[in-house]
Amino acid sequence: QKKHKVTIVGSGNWGSTIAKILAENTRANAGLFEEEVQMWVYEEDVTIPKDSKYYDEAAGDKPQKLTEVINKYHENIKYLPGIALPSNIVANPDIRDAVRDSTILIFNLPHQFIGNVCKQINGHILPFARGISCIKGVNVTDDGVSLFSEWIGDGLGIYCGALSGANLAREIAAEKWSETTIAYDPPAMDNSRAATPRTGSPNNAAAEIPEIELPHKDARGRTSSTKLTAMPGDYPPLDQDCFRTLFHRPYFHVQLVSDVAGVSLSGALKNVVALAAGFVDGRGWGDNAKAAIMRIGLMEMVKFGKEFFGETVQTATFTESSAGVADLITSCSGGRNFRCAKIAVEKGISVQEVEKQELNGQKIQGTTTAEEVNSFLKARGLESEYPLFTAVNDILLGKRQVDDIPNLMQDS
Ligand code: NAD
Ligand code: 13P
Repeated sequence: QKKHKVTIVGSGNWGSTIAKILAENTRANAGLFEEEVQMWVYEEDVTIPKDSKYYDEAAGDKPQKLTEVINKYHENIKYLPGIALPSNIVANPDIRDAVRDSTILIFNLPHQFIGNVCKQINGHILPFARGISCIKGVNVTDDGVSLFSEWIGDGLGIYCGALSGANLAREIAAEKWSETTIAYDPPAMDNSRAATPRTGSPNNAAAEIPEIELPHKDARGRTSSTKLTAMPGDYPPLDQDCFRTLFHRPYFHVQLVSDVAGVSLSGALKNVVALAAGFVDGRGWGDNAKAAIMRIGLMEMVKFGKEFFGETVQTATFTESSAGVADLITSCSGGRNFRCAKIAVEKGISVQEVEKQELNGQKIQGTTTAEEVNSFLKARGLESEYPLFTAVNDILLGKRQVDDIPNLMQDS
């Protein structure tokens, strides 16, 4: 039987932390997974500071490729400094090469970059691969809201679940205990050797057929073909147990659920609430005000889920899972969205300015999500029904002040 090849698409603060977890588990479960984990890195030059233990006199201050530094020192010195990564993680700057022949694709990058990445890999992945999106954001346009799990899945023609939870990356990278929620509920797959992949219709007449050509469209819509050398039935089943084995660690406890929409929405919307929590904390209003923000924010998250994803979303995902209320609490305590909003109010500068000054290239998601959610609500005349989401966007735009929050929340 073949083993699953795992690729992580993304290598930021959370991406590198998840890569560490995956690589520890592929090493510990050699019967199920190939040991090597491919990690796609958005290539950039980095300079190793003189006081770093990796400073090399010969190289001096010369910029080096981030992938080369990761593969040499087994540390992502820019996005997860100080954390040793397992040596079976291979940093790869070539996205198509990184995903080639992988049966498991983990998407973990800031949500504004996912569209471009998917364009590049469309038609270059196994048609029966399965994905998990660790992205906290939603794809909102005036026409509608879509979840990145759905959007990735539909765009690439694969099933994609979602992982989200109270998961501040640095704590997990330091192996401090936490929980997470994985929503994964794929349609049953015919696991026989002759099973038909979702995006093609190969001749499945004989189990011994070793290679099958499938038509694919590349990013420009041109037809090409991929030679399949294996079929789904050649691998262990890509079921919930497989993903539990891949993600669960003694310090990272996994709860599997089926509510992909609830898990994805919670992770995206809590970032907007965390900005509001930062605003009131920055004004020095204390814990009662922050708790009020969390209460109102949670209500708006549930309302949004029920109103726009009512058929699938479960209230309990917001109120009982790590992806819901627990993530809201941790994000409003120590998340980057919270911290940037707090500093912005204290210094009297914009949140975006703080992000640039403080995060060394890391990206917060709440600012774009607040804007996207607002444009969606505005197009439907529903801004007043979501006063907290609306207030956050108005404060980011300078149309309202933090001091307006109590009045705006009067009826919440
Ligand atoms: P990050 O904030 O560290 O973002 C930087 C990443 O973006 C780097 O890997 C960088 O190489 C990449 N990047 C920059 N420009 C790019 C481009 N043009 N194209 C592609 N990539 C580019 O990233 P992160 O913390 O790993 O966040 C990924 C997702 O995980 C986000 O949706 C975030 O909300 C979520 N998340 C983060 C945490 C956390 O604590 N950091 C925890 C849970 C979930
Ligand atoms: P920030 O992006 O605000 O740091 O949130 C991290 C997170 O999602 C914790 O669960």
